[in-house]
Formats: sequence, C-alpha cells, structure tokens
Amino acid sequence: MCGIIGIVGINPVTPRLVEGLRRLEYRGYDSSGVATLINGHIDRRRAEGKLTNLEARLGLEPLAGTTGIAHTRWATHGGVSERNAHPIATDRVAVVHNGIIENHRELKAELVAEGRRFDSDTDTEAVAQLLTSFLERQMSPEEAMAATMARLKGAFALVCLFAGRHDLLIGARRNCPLAVGYGEGEMYLGSDALALAPLTRRIAYLEEDDWVVLRHDEARVFNAGKPVTREIKTTALSGAMIGKGNHRHFMLKEMHEHPEAVSATLRSYLDPAARAVSPPSLPFDWKDVPRLTITACGTAYYAAQIGKYWFERLARLPVETDIGSEFRYREAPMPAGGVCMAVSQSGETADTLAALRYARSQGQTILSIVNVKESAMARESDVIVPTHAGPEISVASTKAFTAQLVVLLTLAISAGRARGTLSAAREAELVDALIELPSRLAEVLGSHEAIVAIANKVAEARDVLYLGRGTSYPIALEGALKLKELSYIHAEGYPAGELKHGPIALIAEDVPVVFVAPTDELADKIASAFEQVHARGGKPILFSDAAGIARLGSKAFASLCLPDVDPMVAPILYAVPVQMLAYYAALAKGTDIDQPRNLAKSVVVE
Ligand code: M6R
Repeated sequence: MCGIIGIVGINPVTPRLVEGLRRLEYRGYDSSGVATLINGHIDRRRAEGKLTNLEARLGLEPLAGTTGIAHTRWATHGGVSERNAHPIATDRVAVVHNGIIENHRELKAELVAEGRRFDSDTDTEAVAQLLTSFLERQMSPEEAMAATMARLKGAFALVCLFAGRHDLLIGARRNCPLAVGYGEGEMYLGSDALALAPLTRRIAYLEEDDWVVLRHDEARVFNAGKPVTREIKTTALSGAMIGKGNHRHFMLKEMHEHPEAVSATLRSYLDPAARAVSPPSLPFDWKDVPRLTITACGTAYYAAQIGKYWFERLARLPVETDIGSEFRYREAPMPAGGVCMAVSQSGETADTLAALRYARSQGQTILSIVNVKESAMARESDVIVPTHAGPEISVASTKAFTAQLVVLLTLAISAGRARGTLSAAREAELVDALIELPSRLAEVLGSHEAIVAIANKVAEARDVLYLGRGTSYPIALEGALKLKELSYIHAEGYPAGELKHGPIALIAEDVPVVFVAPTDELADKIASAFEQVHARGGKPILFSDAAGIARLGSKAFASLCLPDVDPMVAPILYAVPVQMLAYYAALAKGTDIDQPRNLAKSVVVE
C-alpha cells in the first residue's frame, strides 16, 4: 500500500530517491518523506500530501547524503500528517515500512514500559523503537534486525537506515514485496522493479521472511538465520516505459495501450494460422475439473464474473466466483480436484492472496492470472497464465482488465475444446473475432469526441445507473466503479433484468442510465429495460452497435455506436467506452484522475 526505496550510494541520493518515489506514488500518496545520513546523523524531510509538497520542502531545505531511504504513504495506522509520515526515526535508526505490524500495540506497551517515548501514531514506530532498544543493548544492526523480525507479526516490507553506517541498509519482507537492485558500486532496495527501473535492470526478489544486508557492492540475504541465494534477473522494464508519454494522464496513456495489451496477450495464447487457441501447459486436465472457483477484487473481480459466463457457456463447467475479501472467510466447501483461479493486476492484493491460500488449504490447484509475474500470487500458484499488459501505473485499472478478459476467454475456449463442448468451427470463429479485437479497440479509442460529449453531460449528474445483461452486466459494474473512483459521482451497476425489482424507483430526468447493450441473444431483454426507462422520463444513454442504435437510438438521450463484433468478445470491446466515459467525466469535474482521493493502486492490507 505504500512505496519504499533505499540507496546505498556513492553520489548524493535525495534527487534519485524522490524520482523513485514519483514512480511509486501510485502505491499511496497521502504523505512522503526522505531520510539520509549527514555526518553519520539521521536527517529527514517529510511532508503531508502529494510528492510535490515534499519536493517544495526539499527545495527550501535540501538534504545531502549518499545513503538514504524514502517512502510514499497510504495511511493505515495513524492519520495523515507530517508526524506520521515515514521515515519514522529515532536517533539510532530510520525506518520505511509497507504493510501492517499487527502486534504493534503489544510491542508499544512493552517499549513504553522500558521508558521509550513514541512520537507518532504509526504501527511502524514499534519497529523503529524495537530496533533502537536492541541497538542500545550493544547489538550490531544485523543482530538487532534479526531480533526485531522475530518479534514482528503481520505484513511488512521494511528498509532501515542506521546512524553512523553510511555503508549499510537493511531490508526485510513478510507478505509484502521488496526487490534488491544491483548497481555499479551502489545497491538499491525498492517495493518493485518499477521503482528501480531507471537505476538498474538487475533485480533479485526477496522471498517470505528474507532479510537483506545491503552494502555498496553486495547484498547478503538471510532466511531463518541462514544465508540464502536469490536469483538475479534482468528486468525488461526501462525508465521510458513508465512515463506518461504525450498523454495528460497515465490512465489516458494506458487506455490507449488497450490494443497493444490485448495483442501482446493474444500472441501468447493464440495460434492464428491454426485458427485455434494455444493454451499454456496446465497441471490438470479440464475434463477432470469438477468445479472452477474464480476469486479477485475490484475491476479484476468483474473480469472473473465475465469469465464465469464464458466457462459455463463454452466449457459447460460449473463456476463459482467470489470477491476475495468475502471468499477468504466464507469457509466454502471446495470439491476434490477443483481449480481455483486468482485474477489480479498486481498479484499482491491481500484479500485475493488470502482467498488463494484458503483454496490451497482446500486442496485446489491454483492458477493465477497476474500482470506482475514476480508477485506473491505468482509465486504461490501452481501455474501462472500472465497477462502481457505492461506496467499499469494509474490507480484505475484499464488495460490490465482487457488483458485479463483475453486470458479468461482463451482459457475458456481451451477448456471447451478439452471437454468436447466447443466445436472446432466455433473455436475458429472465436479466434477470428479475437484477432480482430485490437483494430476494433483502436476504432473505439478513436471515438473519443463522441464520448467526451456524453461525459460532459454525465459530469453534471449526482447519480448514474449502468445496466447490462449477461456479460454486459459486469461491464455495467465496471463502468459504475470507474465513474465512482475517478469522478466521485455516485453510480450503480445492475443487471438490467433487476431494474423492475427496485432500482426503477430511481429513474428521474436528472439520473442518466447507461445501457451497455451489444446486439446479442439478450438484446430484446435489454431493449425492454431501455423502453421502461424512456417511458418514465429517464435519460437513457445507449452504448450499442449499428443494429442497436437503429432500434433504440432515436429514443436515447445520447448514444455511442461501437463496431460490430461477435457477442462473445463484446465485453472486451465495451470495457473501453465505459472507462473512457469515466475518464472524461472526471476530467470535466477536475478531479485527480491518476491518484483519486483515498485510494492506492495495490491494496496489500485488509
Ligand atoms: O491488483 P489487483 O487487480 O488485484 O487490484 C484489484 C483492485 O484493487 C483494482 O482492480 C481496483 O478496483 C481498481 N482501482 C479499479 O480501477
């Protein structure tokens, strides 16, 4: 939930630490800070609010030093204030932390009883004070770290800077990611490879309960008291890949990357010449799977819901979907031989990870669909089927969603083939439809002027409804979620058939109703809902194809004509205009699109 970075350097580090924070800001952005060593003493600058506030502070009070740590925060324990901003420090040690120390109250009580004074309301301060207490008992930093780790419960990635030790940083992880970067005479620690990309491409990912002693030219990793080796990998990421390019926001850039995210993912899972999918090798046979469970959170959960329709329809496979935070505690019985899929852009979402672990405890085979291949979910799965969407920085998930849908559909097709429920002819049609998708997506991106006009109207509303049926229902949910998180307009997504069971009471002339309505086998049904809204003086906004617009367009308050596609792939196409609508409505309202209030990109806490 927070971003951390550290450098054991030979040149001044503050500008590079701040640049690293800029790349990590997507993980949290309510306060930030930097600490370095000046003549062996810890000095720090912290600021509440966006990183620009810290930069302004550093402009007035620069911070020298060649070894340092930095943090960008998403508050969990302790309000948003400068005194709770990290690094949290004593005179002996400064600490940056991502995660939650669950036993911080118990530790604080002990440490206060020893006579220690706490200066912040954070759980992290228990770590800083505990380390200090061990250091004051003449332990070395390494010994103090080992002793501290043994006392901590919960989730953490930590990087610690020690007074008088400009040649040293110590990092540790449990349930939160931390990567080591190898430079030339310098070494780095960061929450992810994105943070380190401009500094180095040589990265090692720490594993559960690892801690690392970092010096100018080496990283010694320990686990359970013993030295261990972690493979150094060369990341394909570069600093250039994580800029905004010519776009005003990361979200806009990432929406423009829908065609490339979809084609890159298709390249891995399709054989265009054979007009067939080329599934990854899996440690199970779809024929033997009694039930598939798909779990995820937020936008990824809507991908899971669409996946359910596809697996049920194409492979006649019973599917259960549940939100990670519900599933993890539901104690659901799971059948022997079952498969559980976790869907996640980051691969770090705490609730999805806990759901995955529950499924494993129930003997399920775990398949994860993740965009970050080095993530915790990837590591804890029997097999990963990655999306190839590239880095997604904007808090709103966009291209990762369409890439997740591509993976789910190609897997559903291969399951249908394996289970004998899908003919080769239908598979070939679906593959053709998938191959055409990147061009169709580019066409939709080209309709931005029409979408801006609709968004300007939606931006004036207080409440907005989104309706869809079948696979368009989760797209309605996605549209409503995006509008809420980006523009702060209240929005609800409903299956259109439910309209008459309650939400129809909301229909009024100031409540736009967005219909996600490709012409499919449920087109007549959604047309009835459209008529019901129109008859009650509502404001229907129609997202459909030429046939749908010809049928209902004259009664629509506004409409958008989308390319004709096979209805099975329609949700992948219709995801884009609902995301664009939210983007342009937020633009009209002037909200902070890439960093909406109260949110963070990766939710690694409960
Ligand atoms: O990294 P994940 O895909 O697991 O994240 C899940 C959700 O937190 C995420 O999709 C969230 O809902 C987005 N902000 C939606 O735009």
